[in-house]
Amino acid sequence: MKPLSIMLSMLIIGFTSSTVMAEGVNTPSASLPNVSPANSDLVNRGAYIARAADCMACHGEDYTGGVAIETPMGDIYATNITPSKRYGIGNYTEADLKKALQQGRAPDHMIYPAMPYPSYNGMKDEDVSALFAYLQTVPVVDEAPEYKTDLPFPFNFRTLMLGWNAINIPSTENREGLTQTQQRGEYLVNNLAHCGTCHTPRNSTMGFDKDNYLSGAQLGTWYAPNITPDKSSGIGNWSEQDIITYLRTGELDQRVFAGGPMGEVVAHSTRYLKDADLNAIASYLKAVPAVRTDDKIHPVDASRLPTPINESITHDLLAQKDYLAQAKADVSGGSNSPEALYLAACGSCHGVDGYGQPDARYAPIVGLSSIRRNNPDGLINVILHGINGATNTSPKMPGFSEELSSQQIAGITNYVRVNFGSLASSNVSAADVDKVIASEPEQPFLIKYAGLLAIIGIIVAIVIIIFIIRTIIRSRRHR
Ligand code: HEC
Ligand code: HEC
Ligand code: HEC
Repeated sequence: MKPLSIMLSMLIIGFTSSTVMAEGVNTPSASLPNVSPANSDLVNRGAYIARAADCMACHGEDYTGGVAIETPMGDIYATNITPSKRYGIGNYTEADLKKALQQGRAPDHMIYPAMPYPSYNGMKDEDVSALFAYLQTVPVVDEAPEYKTDLPFPFNFRTLMLGWNAINIPSTENREGLTQTQQRGEYLVNNLAHCGTCHTPRNSTMGFDKDNYLSGAQLGTWYAPNITPDKSSGIGNWSEQDIITYLRTGELDQRVFAGGPMGEVVAHSTRYLKDADLNAIASYLKAVPAVRTDDKIHPVDASRLPTPINESITHDLLAQKDYLAQAKADVSGGSNSPEALYLAACGSCHGVDGYGQPDARYAPIVGLSSIRRNNPDGLINVILHGINGATNTSPKMPGFSEELSSQQIAGITNYVRVNFGSLASSNVSAADVDKVIASEPEQPFLIKYAGLLAIIGIIVAIVIIIFIIRTIIRSRRHR
């Protein structure tokens, strides 16, 4: 197992540079793009809207675009939205921006729903104005993104979006009887921060399934969990303060960690929000209807969690070296014991006892919700594919699909769920891991943002239209 030596060296490099790694993390600094006392209030407000609406997740921190949104039909690339006249939106009027955001219509073409305009549809005019003023102050970058969207026929026919928009917009409804704070939260969740884009499952037209609003949805190899206030499968046991802390820092000690796409949401957007806005989001999430799903979360049984071996070993990965070296020897000697496998493959970062090395942002994984779910697929996927950490500057978690067999991954999955998740038992088999691996290519939804599924709805629509036309033609011939 060669990667082990790499990991061990990472461990050491990681250890010595832990101060560097700790930087820029967990610091909800006031650093908003281009916010400055020299700017007008309107511009500064626009900068804040851009954060709340997370334009940077796709258009980049410098707004030059280029981020690929994967779809079964091909990649859709976010465009340059700096005020460049040639490559960006320098020729946009405020009315143009309003149409693009609220209706998905650029001046000369329809925009694909990879851009979350179904959510921005409810964006207030005054917020669009602020955003427009702000986008004028962004440094011009006269460059096209490296790649250009080029979907095959018929998806290159952008006018098709008109039909989809007609049935799927507006994508959410405003609830009755909310307090003012909750109304603000609703606006943030539904419109600006577009949380439902990932957390709400899709219906047959690939619009939002409104009855199961925010109750969880598959996102490629990630799963965006149920965030309704259901106690067994959602976040009903979280306090409002828990929600605020999670959105601010990306974690709740020994309970949740914001990985993958959610890590990006925190990194680019929610950690910058004002306390009052995070509070509004939390208050609103408590007021949405609870939806119960099968994917129950096992409560943490504190008595079953590992005790940190000792304070210094938990915080000093170097002191764990001997354990890891022994595990490495065992595994190369053919040991398939889940504990040795865990130590060999994961221990160098997550620690011999799962407590990681928090100071260096080696994530502790003890007690995390993602390892306590009924459905182990999320954890299996994390082990298969790793995590391209966003809130985190320490070494990224690698994927193990090449190095470990399905049997070994199943063993580690069970080990982690039982020992660190405090589950009474876990019976993931090699066949279960194979199933997760096999489901990938078939899963046409290898996409970063589920909004794109919309496009599949269009295929369905086209097929239906062709079918109807054929039926009409045939019935005429038969006359
Ligand atoms: C989830 C990813 C995502 C987010 C978030 C997002 N965009 Fe986009 N945006 C895209 C993609 C992808 C395209 C290109 C779509 C296409 O090719 O049809 C796009 C296109 C656009 C366009 C059209 C440009 C043109 O003329 O072709 C504008 C304007 C725009 N975005 C502005 C914004 C603003 C402002 C925000 C924040 C309020 C934002 N976007 C947030 C993905 C995103
Ligand atoms: C780009 C997709 C995406 C968007 C947008 C998004 N989320 Fe998430 N969210 C995820 C994923 C994926 C996870 C699971 C992360 C993990 O397992 O590490 C998650 C996890 C969470 C969790 C933890 C749930 C649990 O039980 O562990 C909460 C709470 C949450 N999101 C709230 C929000 C809120 C509020 C918003 C809007 C402000 C939002 N999310 C926007 C994808 C997204
Ligand atoms: C090179 C270091 C490294 C190794 C090796 C590693 N991880 Fe990780 N892991 C991380 C980091 C860093 C994170 C935090 C994710 C991020 O950066 O956003 C993480 C996150 C996780 C999470 C939390 C996922 C979530 O979003 O809730 C789990 C579970 C996990 N790792 C399990 C494992 C297992 C099991 C192994 C061994 C098969 C392993 N890791 C190996 C670095 C590592």
